[in-house]
Amino acid sequence: MTAALHIDDVHKWFGDRQVLDGFSLRVEQGEVVGLLGPNGCGKSTVLNIVCKLLAPDTGQVRLMGEPLNELGYRARGLVGVCTQHSALYPDLLPAENLHFFARLYGLTEMERKQRVAELMHRFELEKFASTRVGQLSGGWQQRLHLAVALIHRPKLLVLDEPTAAVDLEARMDLWRLIEGLRDSGTTILLTSHHLAEAERLCRRVAMMRSGKVVAEGSVPELLARIPGQAVAKVQAEDNEAIMQRALDLGWTVRQHAGQMRLLLPQNLGLREILDALDGTQVSGVSVQPVTLEDAYLELVGDSPLLG
Ligand SMILES: Nc1ncnc2c1ncn2[C@@H]1O[C@H](COP(=O)(O)OP(=O)(O)OP(=O)(O)O)[C@@H](O)[C@H]1O
Ligand SMILES: [Mg+2]
Repeated sequence: MTAALHIDDVHKWFGDRQVLDGFSLRVEQGEVVGLLGPNGCGKSTVLNIVCKLLAPDTGQVRLMGEPLNELGYRARGLVGVCTQHSALYPDLLPAENLHFFARLYGLTEMERKQRVAELMHRFELEKFASTRVGQLSGGWQQRLHLAVALIHRPKLLVLDEPTAAVDLEARMDLWRLIEGLRDSGTTILLTSHHLAEAERLCRRVAMMRSGKVVAEGSVPELLARIPGQAVAKVQAEDNEAIMQRALDLGWTVRQHAGQMRLLLPQNLGLREILDALDGTQVSGVSVQPVTLEDAYLELVGDSPLLG
């Protein structure tokens, strides 16, 4: 099947600063792909290129098999976007915002009425039908933002940190909404700094650093690249002694932002870990199976690697 999006070897400079350095990524139709990476690594630049807000300096981008630079204005019809900054009009009502964007995308009056009603219902916005958008909470504004991005039935939905600015409950609501879109076959490329969000929503994850993808795969594939099944986070007076013991046991030792993490070859209970570290001064320990956060630290982080 034709990929919804195929980015091939894209380079991008801002002046003499290189931001994308051979970036490549495919998003198949119907899948949700997460793009993760540290601040400034180029995630939004990639999304802006896909939305034609920026042009790549070299490399090729195809949407539904067609080169982006040959699609002209038709590209706008294929992509729906939620950028990091809201595009909504705060003085208008939710439905007025939807109508505005529907008109911009060239929907006929009949299509507009039907689509706006459908999205107001699907995103449960009817209860705020007479509230100006500027008065809505951040979470509800973001729901409307998603609805606006879908107004013209795009083939690809692009979401730049869709839950970054909202509280925990609103985030969980947005997750359910995005899961609903995913389960009904919407193709989505999203960025996030929330590893748990990517783990929950995405079928595939691409991790980038310094303008290119450094690791890519399904969540289980990325977890399999961690040299351990479980991670123990240990607090101790004397890190050196614990590290040495862990290395003697054949465990892998990592340090990230001053936190010592021991990657264990199999799931061990707290008792077994304390027994194995017996004779060292442990003041606190927790253990859990590895998550996407551990894969991220392993594959993108720049900590000293031991073991
Ligand atoms: N229009 C621009 N002109 C000059 N430099 C830019 C421009 N847009 C982005 N940059 C720089 O390019 C780099 C990549 O920016 P980008 O916004 O793509 O990063 P990001 O991965 O989205 O970061 P964040 O996680 O903070 O959103 C940054 O160093 C940024 O300062
Ligand atoms: Mg960004």
